[in-house]
Amino acid sequence: MENKTFNVAVMGAGNIGSAVISRLMNLDKGIVGLNVKRVLVKDKSKKREISDDILTDNFDDILNDDSIDLVIEVLGGIDPGKDYIKALLQNGKAVITANKDIIADSGSDLINTAKENNACLYFEAAVAAGIPVLKPIIESLRGEELTKVSGIINGTSNYMLTSMEEGSTYDDALSTAQELGYAEPDPTNDVEGLDAKYKAVILSLLCFGTSPTSDDLFTDGISGITKEDFEWAARLGKTIKLVAQIDNKNGFNARVHPVLIDTKHPLAAIRGALNAVVVEGDNINQLVFSGPGAGAEPTASAIIGDVLSACHQLSSDQTNWYPLREFKGEMKNFEDVQSSMFIRLSVNDEPGVLANISGTFGENNVSIESVIQEGRGDKAELVLVTHEAPEKDIKNSIDQISALDSVTTVTSTLRVYV
Ligand SMILES: NC(=O)c1ccc[n+]([C@@H]2O[C@H](COP(=O)([O-])OP(=O)(O)OC[C@H]3O[C@@H](n4cnc5c(N)ncnc54)[C@H](OP(=O)(O)O)[C@@H]3O)[C@@H](O)[C@H]2O)c1
Repeated sequence: MENKTFNVAVMGAGNIGSAVISRLMNLDKGIVGLNVKRVLVKDKSKKREISDDILTDNFDDILNDDSIDLVIEVLGGIDPGKDYIKALLQNGKAVITANKDIIADSGSDLINTAKENNACLYFEAAVAAGIPVLKPIIESLRGEELTKVSGIINGTSNYMLTSMEEGSTYDDALSTAQELGYAEPDPTNDVEGLDAKYKAVILSLLCFGTSPTSDDLFTDGISGITKEDFEWAARLGKTIKLVAQIDNKNGFNARVHPVLIDTKHPLAAIRGALNAVVVEGDNINQLVFSGPGAGAEPTASAIIGDVLSACHQLSSDQTNWYPLREFKGEMKNFEDVQSSMFIRLSVNDEPGVLANISGTFGENNVSIESVIQEGRGDKAELVLVTHEAPEKDIKNSIDQISALDSVTTVTSTLRVYV
């Protein structure tokens, strides 16, 4: 590997692409010889610090250049990147992408294309950006049967939840995240859990051999969380995190939603824009990967790691793919997942309220772990935590309770991480 110089093309020279190009050009030649041969952009007339000689707006300049060994895709969005990646792999080129949308959409198809063409496909930066977590899952842990993978895999929402834990309102936390560049002007993908959902699809494929569809993967975001929820969480020795959970213990289910989580759990310690992934299996117990889950430099670091792996692989003329895991187990619908629920209610402080509420839970076979009542008169608040029960039974209970005359509002519901 030391004696060969690899020709590299980079598709995209925006936020991430610029950082990658700079890292490639300054990489220690003692590690590997790299030559940035082409950079694909949409608008060549934009001012940038890249020589005109290597800039192109024509994908064919990369696809049809036999001297290009390795291509990095950092365009963003699904089109045209997905078709470009497929064509490059079919041409036998190694491809590295940071694009979670493409891998969530077509990961197994592209992995198979890479295998069929004896080509390399890497996408470490697509999940948790700067944290090298996919390579351990694909390679180091390939011999392990995994039981559960959970993670904080959206830095923006974690930044906002950390601010709220420190006393901010949701709106203030969002404005600060936008000012700091963590949140987009339209924050929907981050705050409604959609970004985490795409990453959960990728983790499902790599850890359990199945890609749940959008409809299968229950997703709820953080936009309904309030300061008061955090105050209650603190009273219960917990905090609130947006967590992706994928488990295959008693049936397979993947979901993304906010949870009340014990402050002693490793995920509770992940603050600000950091990410973490916890991987569990019988032989490994619990592994925790944590670090920066976004940002140009950490993302470029993951991409450079992939470049080195690809160069190593190219030298031995092999694909990087171990057999994908085969799905073992049964799909479990979200309504059958066992959850423990924290429920905050405004109630009229009158005799029999608690009996009515606990009776309704009982009729749905949901048992109550703890109850706290606060305030008097029409300002009474009731906080309940249920034992684990199927989601559908908890939902029925909450629907029936909210219709009771003595219940003014169901102020909030949050699942407890178990
Ligand atoms: N930001 C992060 O922290 C992070 C972390 C992990 C992964 N990622 C992923 O990294 C990827 C790139 O993100 P980014 O923030 O760097 O995007 P960006 O700043 O919008 O840059 C996109 C680049 O791609 C070029 N481009 C877009 N469409 C094109 C087309 N049809 N043909 C040719 N060139 C085209 C643009 O060209 P012009 O310059 O001419 O407009 C620009 O240079 C995304 O998939 C993102 O999800 C980002």
